[in-house]
Amino acid sequence: MEVYFYDWLNLFFRWFHVIAGVAWIGASFYFVWLDNSLEEPPQWKKDKGIGGDLWAIHGGGFYEVAKYKLGPEAMPTNLHWFKWEAYTTWLTGMVMLWVVYYVGAESFLIDSSRMALSQGEAIAAGLGFIAVGVGIYELMVRSPLRHNGKLFGIILFAILVFASWAANQIFSARGAYIHVGAIIGTIMAGNVFLGIMPSQRALVEAVQRGESPDPKYGAFAKLRSTHNNYFTLPLIFIMISNHYPMTYSHEYGWLVLAAIGFISAFARHFFNLRHRGEFKPVILLIAALMLISLAVVMAPQKIEAKAGEAILSDAQALQIVEQRCTSCHAQQPSNPGFASAPAGIVLQNAAQLMAVKDKTIPALQSGYMPLGNLTAMTDDERQALLVWLAK
Ligand code: HEC
Repeated sequence: MEVYFYDWLNLFFRWFHVIAGVAWIGASFYFVWLDNSLEEPPQWKKDKGIGGDLWAIHGGGFYEVAKYKLGPEAMPTNLHWFKWEAYTTWLTGMVMLWVVYYVGAESFLIDSSRMALSQGEAIAAGLGFIAVGVGIYELMVRSPLRHNGKLFGIILFAILVFASWAANQIFSARGAYIHVGAIIGTIMAGNVFLGIMPSQRALVEAVQRGESPDPKYGAFAKLRSTHNNYFTLPLIFIMISNHYPMTYSHEYGWLVLAAIGFISAFARHFFNLRHRGEFKPVILLIAALMLISLAVVMAPQKIEAKAGEAILSDAQALQIVEQRCTSCHAQQPSNPGFASAPAGIVLQNAAQLMAVKDKTIPALQSGYMPLGNLTAMTDDERQALLVWLAK
């Protein structure tokens, strides 16, 4: 019953997280597009200090947007800030991390074949991992390295690849992906909280004092917001990746994440150039080819079903599972519809079964599993298995 309500918590916060994330990324994409699409204003606007001009039509109305070079002469009474989208996305993301991976550490965070952690140790490792990752980024972005955009990007990418590898030594495959995502998401929210907001506050204060704002504030905020821009596509991949165990449960899952992260950030580059008027579709083409090649390289070798072959001989329960579940829930499923174990759940021995019992019981009770009852499980078997699991 407890698990049932956790599922509702999970649903609520996932829903909330996605909505907040859409608002954040949507606003962020819009402003990047806006900034890159600005045109030179007419003289009378230039005289007011406006550096960029843009016209748009949306929802049946005309919009005239103007970006000031530095700031307006006087503060407007109502100035819109965009920060709660970011904070809410981060906060709901942390709740999700807790509800899914920390409460459910046994099933989703710990893989004892990698590191036999207790729940407390796994949580501490997870939080420590995020803190170290974000700490390194904050040191880097405050160092002179930030003036060299390309080198910064290369070093940051190398560090994240290392983080992906390290996470895969410590956590379960799914848990590893989500922790790399948590580092990136926290860096992004940190960019808003620690960089962009303070810079903007300084800008606003300067305008209020009637001074011309120091351009360094605007530039610093812009740098962090550019980093966030390149993070968005890889991060969204990580958010949806847990539906695709073929990625995280791959033997070289850490490398798969690095490859997809690189490809998606590269694809983002196309849009950034395009908004600036540089149309280079070859970037998207290369990204698509890289993704297809990756899919081909990662394709698992087909194996034949070992019909009726019992993995363990002990209980009748295991025999049922063998008959009704492991065609899908195996390292290499024999069901041609699946390339790897669905939801990352492998049910090939009693220990594996017990480790995910909190998920298996409701899945069986609700009739959700076996999926579509493709394996024709009988009611008697379901009942017997439930009793065995709950004993
Ligand atoms: C035909 C393939 C198939 C068979 C057979 C099958 N499963 Fe699944 N199972 C899946 C898929 C696909 C998912 C992932 C569903 C999703 O992501 O929503 C899944 C997910 C699960 C989950 C995770 C559910 C959750 O809430 O996260 C459990 C537990 C599970 N299966 C247990 C079983 C058990 C026990 C059996 C045998 C009685 C079984 N499955 C048989 C395909 C199958």
